[in-house]
Amino acid sequence: MQIRKKLFLIIFLIKNLFLTYFRKGLSISSDVQIRKTQIRKGKISISRGCRIGMYVIIDPSNGFINIGEYTSIHDFSVISGMGGVSIGKYVAIASQCAIIASNHVYINPEEYIKRQGNTAKGIVIEDDVWLGIGVKVLDGVTIGKGSIIGAGSIVTKSIPSYSIAVGIPAKVIKNRK
Ligand SMILES: CC(C)(COP(=O)(O)OP(=O)(O)OC[C@H]1O[C@@H](n2cnc3c(N)ncnc32)[C@H](O)[C@@H]1OP(=O)(O)O)[C@@H](O)C(=O)NCCC(=O)NCCS
Repeated sequence: MQIRKKLFLIIFLIKNLFLTYFRKGLSISSDVQIRKTQIRKGKISISRGCRIGMYVIIDPSNGFINIGEYTSIHDFSVISGMGGVSIGKYVAIASQCAIIASNHVYINPEEYIKRQGNTAKGIVIEDDVWLGIGVKVLDGVTIGKGSIIGAGSIVTKSIPSYSIAVGIPAKVIKNRK
């Protein structure tokens, strides 16, 4: 292995061990590669072999975010976990995706939306899912194993396993099996 690559791996290992032992609720496997990114306080677990790109924001927002083995999250993606976000293994999340596990309550038109609190059901993204560039996943949704969500789509309802879904809102156009 090249000296440079070895050096990078040693730096990741020390950084991840340091974060895991000194930040409550945070668990990062020692071989995870995280580039310049923001991991906010709270319950976060990032399993082995994950790759987290540049300027990714991982924010549990008083919930939790679990990321399974060998999942990759590319540049400028945002994950917000108020209702809890569970991402399976071998999931590919392209750049500029947003996974947001909460909604504002807006029932009272006489009150500021910001003051009405939130609902938070949680999001599940099962193993082997591929989210194309710029996909948005809204609260309460499960994306089934092996599904593909096309670039720029907004997922507002759950998607069955092995589907290909595209558009706003995302609709299933094909089945992979
Ligand atoms: C979803 C995707 C994989 C589908 O590929 P495919 O199976 O080859 O599908 P097709 O190209 O045959 O498209 C089927 C139909 O869906 C439409 N479609 C495909 N992707 C779409 C998208 N992202 N949004 C809206 N419609 C889409 C096509 O226009 C086509 O419509 P038509 O039948 O009316 O002509 C691909 O279009 C895609 O979005 N890839 C993501 C690319 C990406 O983000 N790469 C980042 C690197 S990880």
